[in-house]
Amino acid sequence: MKKKTAVYPGTFDPITFGHIDIVDRACYLFDHVIIAIAENPSKQPLFSVEERKDMIRESTRSIENVEVDAFEGLLVEYATLRNAVAIIRGLRAVTDFEYELQMALMNRNLRDKIATVFLMPHEEYIYLNSSIVKEVASFGEDVSRLVPEIVVRKLKETYSPGTHHSTRRL
Ligand code: PNS
Repeated sequence: MKKKTAVYPGTFDPITFGHIDIVDRACYLFDHVIIAIAENPSKQPLFSVEERKDMIRESTRSIENVEVDAFEGLLVEYATLRNAVAIIRGLRAVTDFEYELQMALMNRNLRDKIATVFLMPHEEYIYLNSSIVKEVASFGEDVSRLVPEIVVRKLKETYSPGTHHSTRRL
């Protein structure tokens, strides 16, 4: 039987436990899951593509059918190149829905054969996202319950003591 590949695209700046929860679920459903970092020239990520790749690789080492890659350009084009039958997206709160529906419908318009599959993370991660992790880490707070160890380390390097934002009353 033909192996089924899915692409799990995102910015992953950086990867969180919420993303890993989705990867786990996708790997259970598909034979091969490609975590694909989308390089968006108009976005200014905190971490380079190589750094993000390293963090994802290290955090998904124990999952067999995962590959880590990066792409620039149209997601459906990349998915076609990689012979993927599906695009995986995580759906958290309702607030995600409108944007995700828009993307899924546009992607289906562009490539009818590639389905978008929405997976819900564990409730624990419903309000978790990369931006909130970076914000909290930039104040020197502990984020080890939210992101893998390697990400904790990279965030500590980036927001080393002395560069932390501080809180004060104005
Ligand atoms: O993690 P994010 O930032 O929510 O991921 C968004 C992403 C990368 C999936 C989306 O921006 C994307 O698909 N970018 C590639 C360009 C593209 O195909 N755009 C058309 C989408 S309808």
